[in-house]
Amino acid sequence: MTHTVRRRAFVTGITGQDGSYLADLLVAKGYEVHGVMRRASTFNTGRIDHLYRDPHDPEARLFLHHGDLADGSGLRHALEQVRPDEIYNLGAQSHVRVSFDAPEYTADVTGSGTLRLLAAYRDYARGAGKDVRFYQAGSSEMFGAAKPPQLETTPFHPRSPYAVAKVAAHWYAVNYRESYGLFISNGILFNHESPRRGETFVTRKITRAATRIKLGLQKKLFLGNLDAKRDWGFAGDYVEAMWRMLQAPAPDDYVVATGEAYSVRDFLEATFTQLGLDWRAYVETDPRYLRPAEVDHLLGDASKARDALGWKPQVSFAGLVAMMVEHDLELAHREKTLREAGHSSALERQHD
Ligand code: NAP
Ligand code: GDD
Repeated sequence: MTHTVRRRAFVTGITGQDGSYLADLLVAKGYEVHGVMRRASTFNTGRIDHLYRDPHDPEARLFLHHGDLADGSGLRHALEQVRPDEIYNLGAQSHVRVSFDAPEYTADVTGSGTLRLLAAYRDYARGAGKDVRFYQAGSSEMFGAAKPPQLETTPFHPRSPYAVAKVAAHWYAVNYRESYGLFISNGILFNHESPRRGETFVTRKITRAATRIKLGLQKKLFLGNLDAKRDWGFAGDYVEAMWRMLQAPAPDDYVVATGEAYSVRDFLEATFTQLGLDWRAYVETDPRYLRPAEVDHLLGDASKARDALGWKPQVSFAGLVAMMVEHDLELAHREKTLREAGHSSALERQHD
């Protein structure tokens, strides 16, 4: 009987947007994927349920482990159990505005959590008897107030507790690479979105609201700063860049971006126009969505990733908007059908 030795990946943040696309990619490439999920009182595996099978099933490729980036001993134990070839640290309190409300928690999970995982990785890698590689999910938020376009050599100027925590995580990763000769690569990813994007990030908040407005399920959309510009790509393209970083001959740090920036207003215009609506009739400003310090303009130069990794984005801004609108229109249709059949609608949401 032949026995395939599959490469094993260990992924924190597997239940998030990127974790789910990365799991899709790795399973398609033949990996055995082990994800860390938080214990929650409600199910939080909606984005990866399509990949999950009972672990006793010989076809199972995705395995879930309870854990938390705040809990170093648990991470250490999980790594020793799984014995992965590649580690992807995607777990984080990833919401910028929320990080102003929960700064210490964000520092602990997004910043110190990375250090905990790095320390566990270093100790595991020492005795693993194989090459083990680590990807750290860095962010364009680290550039913050730096003038666009931003690239690997642009100095960081973080503007939120989240961004400061990501800068700390970035430098912890560099320090572990330099101190212990480990294969650690930092991705510096600009905003990336998808139909699986969390509903409190601005793009998905807009596509969810606009499609519900189109079907008469919602009347208004409340937003904060419409002038901010972001370099928005498709999450499915960006997880490919993460994987490529760990297949490279040497570890390094890479900006991943489309090279085009649009304002929140542009995103509104594109979304509502696709639905045959004028956004000005529905959008109102609510100061609670403003941030104490804003990041005005993120625009990435991903030449290094293109040249060294052969990576380039496949989905355009227009394609991204179309994909999200199409998906959310389908969701809104389903919601409307349920309502008309007498089922109560989802609870009114509080958006950040
Ligand atoms: P996301 O959808 O918010 O997912 C975050 C993941 O982290 C979720 O699985 C979440 O679990 C998990 N998590 C939160 N707190 C945790 C904790 N204490 N311990 C363990 N896991 C925890 O974020 P994303 O968009 O997929 O982003 C993935 C990573 O890339 C994050 O580190 C983010 O900061 C970074 N990043 C994202 C972007 C972007 O535009 N999307 C750009 C640059 C960098 P639950 O599902 O239980 O909440
Ligand atoms: N979330 C949100 N909600 N943002 C709004 C709103 C609103 O109602 N109104 C305006 N905005 C503006 C924000 O002020 C910000 O300038 C921009 O829309 C984008 O906000 P988000 O979608 O929340 O994303 P972000 O850029 O702050 O952070 C995301 O991208 C980072 C990479 O640059 C997150 O995914 C971070 O985790 C990621 O690191």
